[in-house]
Amino acid sequence: MKLAVVPALALPAAVAAHAARDVHLHARQSAATGSSSAGSVTTPAAGALTTPSLTFTLLSTNPTAVPLTEIASGVSSFATVAATTTFAAGTTPTFLPNAPALPNGDRGARPIKLPTLGQTPDPTSDQVKAWIQEVNNSGVTIPSFSPTNPGGCANNTAAAADASRCWWTCGGCENNDVSTCPNKLTWGLTYDDGPALHTGDLLNYLDSQNLKATFFVVGSRAISYPYLLQEEFMAQHQIAVHTWSHPQMTTLTNEQVIAELGWSKKIITDVTGVTPRYWRPPFGDVDNRVRAIAKALGLETSLWTRISPTATFDTGDFDIPGGLVTANQALNNWEGIMANATTINTGFIVLEHDLFQQTVDLATGYILPDALSRTPKITIEPIITCLGLPIRDAYIETNDNSSNPVSSGSNAQTTKGTNSSGNSNTSAAVGVSAPASFIALGLALLSSVAAFLL
Ligand SMILES: *[C@@H]1O[C@H](CO)[C@@H](O)[C@H](O)[C@H]1NC(C)=O
Ligand SMILES: *[C@@H]1O[C@H](CO)[C@@H](O)[C@H](O)[C@H]1NC(C)=O
Ligand SMILES: *[C@@H]1O[C@H](CO)[C@@H](O)[C@H](O)[C@H]1NC(C)=O
Ligand SMILES: *[C@@H]1O[C@H](CO)[C@@H](O)[C@H](O)[C@H]1NC(C)=O
Ligand SMILES: *[C@@H]1O[C@H](CO)[C@@H](O)[C@H](O)[C@H]1NC(C)=O
Ligand SMILES: *[C@@H]1O[C@H](CO)[C@@H](O)[C@H](O)[C@H]1NC(C)=O
Ligand SMILES: [Zn+2]
Repeated sequence: MKLAVVPALALPAAVAAHAARDVHLHARQSAATGSSSAGSVTTPAAGALTTPSLTFTLLSTNPTAVPLTEIASGVSSFATVAATTTFAAGTTPTFLPNAPALPNGDRGARPIKLPTLGQTPDPTSDQVKAWIQEVNNSGVTIPSFSPTNPGGCANNTAAAADASRCWWTCGGCENNDVSTCPNKLTWGLTYDDGPALHTGDLLNYLDSQNLKATFFVVGSRAISYPYLLQEEFMAQHQIAVHTWSHPQMTTLTNEQVIAELGWSKKIITDVTGVTPRYWRPPFGDVDNRVRAIAKALGLETSLWTRISPTATFDTGDFDIPGGLVTANQALNNWEGIMANATTINTGFIVLEHDLFQQTVDLATGYILPDALSRTPKITIEPIITCLGLPIRDAYIETNDNSSNPVSSGSNAQTTKGTNSSGNSNTSAAVGVSAPASFIALGLALLSSVAAFLL
């Protein structure tokens, strides 16, 4: 029997200020049967997917939360939320000194030939050739490791065992990556894979709680939802790169890696006026070759917290729509993350997504309300802020190079924060941090969703 205990300690002001979104939330609520925010909830066993004990206790939930039983697999049936605010082209982002004026969000305003959505862009185009030259000119030495085979660690035993490759996927090796926040009980809040159909709900909730996050944006989706990306940016969330088409980056050639990063940087600049300094590899799939190329393009690698060869701070929310993880399992993971967060001496970064209705509903209905109610208090902020840096340091155009200079040269060290001690490779052991089948399914799911969205 699985027992999910959800006490009724709902946050008062959880519903937001934006009227348009309130209407949406209310419409959604009336479609829901009952509420999970009162009393205890007994959820049915979820068959083969569940692990033996899936209890969790939330200190608070959102009174408008979608009931947990409705955060299930499949395609969302709830209405979506468009950007609530459209900003006029030329608007000044006053919060960001020296930022360029906001570009026109309309795709028609940028009559450039864009790569196909959801596919690695052509690495032989003139545009990518220019970025290849930029990498060549950067002075960063790109290690000569060959691309990995599809199929993860099990299909790459030599590469996985090669400590000099420092492949995070297989053993968790880090090399100046951002994977924690320096200060204990500080959560570097991140959402990946958007902007997407339910990002508006998340922005609404973050706004209502005065929270700022880091959004790791997929270039293909930035093209599809430029006004949502502008809204994220203008709401002072940190915008960062999450590639053009969300591939496993270590499987790509150097030129393909450059094409993925270059185009996603470019589209974000075209839509927001600023170019991110940080990126997160999809699936955390990064090695020293991919890291070096990213660095040559001015991007710092950001992951999420990993405390042992088998435990990373991953809620598993991404796999709810595909039916591999239940909402209860994700909340059980969240409780484990919270427990572990109190035992480590640094802060932490958790993997979550704004791609799906389910992942947004879990975040706004359960995870964030719980986090906001914890004692001692958890400080929740974007990665750039948790590193002790001003938001201007998150972008090339606004970084004044005083606290977070762009590094160059093969031996340059990244500035990770004011008092970060620097990460070390925790283990070079060959291990499978995410089963290859999960990754494959995630990819298939993502591309099918991409097809649906784009
Ligand atoms: C990179 O630079 C080297 C010499 O510095 C040159 O031989 C090579 O052709 C360049 N490659 C590209 C792609 O420009
Ligand atoms: C393992 O790698 C080989 C060579 O790239 C590839 O042909 C094969 O499909 C991969 N196997 C799996 C299970 O991905
Ligand atoms: C970390 O990885 C680098 C590069 O792979 C290697 O040279 C170094 O010895 C490793 N450090 C530790 C502490 O394992
Ligand atoms: C980092 O610096 C801040 C203030 O500069 C300090 O309060 C905090 O304890 C430091 N954290 C660590 C992990 O050293
Ligand atoms: C928490 O830490 C324990 C001990 O290392 C580990 O077994 C567990 O998987 C961790 N859970 C999470 C969600 O990190
Ligand atoms: C910061 O450094 C970059 C890269 O070296 C440079 O292009 C830029 O002009 C510098 N910005 C300022 C304000 O000095
Ligand atoms: Zn992703």
